[in-house]
Order: sequence, then C-alpha cells, then structure tokens
Amino acid sequence: MVEKAAEFIRSKTDGGYEIGIICGSGLGGLCDSVENPIYVNYSDIPNFPVSTAPGHIGRFVFGTLGNKKVICMQGRIHYYEGYSPESVVMPVRVMKLLGVKKLIVTNAAGGINENFNVGDIMMITDHINFTGVNPLVGKNDARFGVRFPDMSFAYSPSLRKTACECANKMGITLREGVYIGCSGPSYETPAEIRAFRALGADAVGMSTVMEVIAANHCKMDVLGFSLVANKAAGMSNNRLTEQEVIDIGREKANVMQKLVRAVVGEM
Ligand code: HPA
Repeated sequence: MVEKAAEFIRSKTDGGYEIGIICGSGLGGLCDSVENPIYVNYSDIPNFPVSTAPGHIGRFVFGTLGNKKVICMQGRIHYYEGYSPESVVMPVRVMKLLGVKKLIVTNAAGGINENFNVGDIMMITDHINFTGVNPLVGKNDARFGVRFPDMSFAYSPSLRKTACECANKMGITLREGVYIGCSGPSYETPAEIRAFRALGADAVGMSTVMEVIAANHCKMDVLGFSLVANKAAGMSNNRLTEQEVIDIGREKANVMQKLVRAVVGEM
C-alpha cells in the first residue's frame, strides 16, 4: 500500500526530496511559501488517509524552500480521527520511499510548563507517548527498520543544535521541552495536566509522537517544534476551544515559518 502511494506520487513529481515537513494545526501557511509548488491531494493518492481535522487542508506540497527540495504535508492524519496508528504513520513511510532523510514535525500544543507563554515556540527535545498505542505494533516490516528501534535520540541532537543557532541568529526566543502526545480528541483535564507536569512534560498535544516513532524506525533524523497555542487545561480561567488553537497558529505561524525556512537552509 505504501509503495503504491509512493509510485503514484512519483508519477506526479520529480525526485530528490530529502527533507520532509509536517505542518500542524494552523501552521500550513509554511506550505504557501514553498517555491515552484506541485500539489498532490491526499484524496487522489491510492490507499492514503485523508485528514479531517480543523485547520488542515490535506495535501502534499512538493517544491523548494531555502534552496532545498522539500515535501510538505499541509495537514496531517490524527489517531482521534479514527485512523489506525499504522495509517497515521503511512505518510512518513511514503516520504521515506520518496527519499526523505530528515523530517521536521510541527504542531500546536498546550503549554504545561508554567514559564511558557501563548505564542512561544518550543523545540521538542524528547517526547512521552501517552496515546496508549504504538504504530509499530504488528508484524515488523524489516524493509523500514528493526523490530525494537532505539528512541534515545528521537529528536536529532545535531538538528537541534542547528535550530538553536538559527533561532539565536534571528533573535527568535526558542523554548525547549518535552512533548507529551495524547490520543484526544477531548482536551485534558486539569488533573491530567498536573500529572503530566509531574511526569516531566512541558507541552501537550494530539499528534507527532506516532510519526516520530515511525520516522526513527526508518532511520530519519527528526526535528520538532510546538507552537504553544494555549495554556493547558486548568492553567487559566478559560475553557479550551479549537478556534483559539487555529487563531494563534495564524498569528504566530510567521515566526515558526521563518525559523523552519532558515533551519531547512542549514540542513
Ligand atoms: N491539549 C491537547 N492538544 C492541544 C492543546 C491542548 O491544550 N492545544 C493544542 N493542541
């Protein structure tokens, strides 16, 4: 199924794409700055899952960014949409077959760390998979990777160093922290957020961890950024709404976009 999807995409694009970028909720604007874009809608790709989440368009954008050839995913697939963990990571595997070696994942997240403000960008240093599932459960496909992949350096130390240097040069304040991935779709309770803080999490969201597991499995270098879209449940007097997540994404997407573009140029 993965090979069929990749074959279809190969027939629509040229090759040489070594960098993949997954754009999270409200962060798809980055894809609009891709030069000489070729669009491939998920719905046209055989066997491909289609994202239905708010703020997600649902297509690949092939082109160049900072003089590098990139594959951008404008919209990702979430477990809470009802897809299997295997389907959630299928796009990562398709990108692998298309030649991607380095993957940048972005998301909108709730800030758990009390020092974080709404609008901050957090570089992900590590994650906690709290979804209760793992996309590698089932028969291992050795063409992608080993049965028990190491996750000690899930977020590439060298790419993180590059990102820090870019952010410094650009005067962008870059937070760092641990992302905890939950299944959703309900937001967390305040008690869950207190528990997650005690576990060492700095930001919480409903994506990313499965894709990063699959990317590590197939030996991609990963870099991840969370845009703090809201304070996590119980940390402000407000109720959480998906609209605020999308709105903050629009507002701060520019900064994230500039940073990702600069990092891609240095990758
Ligand atoms: N929790 C989970 N996912 C999220 C949040 C949150 O507070 N904000 C954006 N995505």
